[in-house]
Amino acid sequence: MARITFVGAGDEKTTVEASTGASVMLAAVQNGIRGIEGECGGSMTCVTCHVYVADDDTPRMPKMAAEEDELLDYTTSARLPQSRLSCQLVVTDDLDGLTVSVPQENT
Ligand code: FES
Repeated sequence: MARITFVGAGDEKTTVEASTGASVMLAAVQNGIRGIEGECGGSMTCVTCHVYVADDDTPRMPKMAAEEDELLDYTTSARLPQSRLSCQLVVTDDLDGLTVSVPQENT
């Protein structure tokens, strides 16, 4: 279990409890976080789960696979160095306190 904070429109913060082994995308969808759709269910075809990981949290993120890196070029919102597909971020105890922002144009 890990607490994850999503920053949405107007810098509104929502903190949710995410189950270990689930994805950050799933935690967002299950908690109705606006701007994270997860349309493909995590099979990496939709890129509707784009988030920006907080600067302080980027060192503890799992390494990005080549496929995720490629798909991030197709997001509707700007790709930044902190960009990740939240369906590829698996919740572990080590991610407790993680903060991710939803691209403003998606909220
Ligand atoms: S949920 Fe579709 S790419 Fe992440």
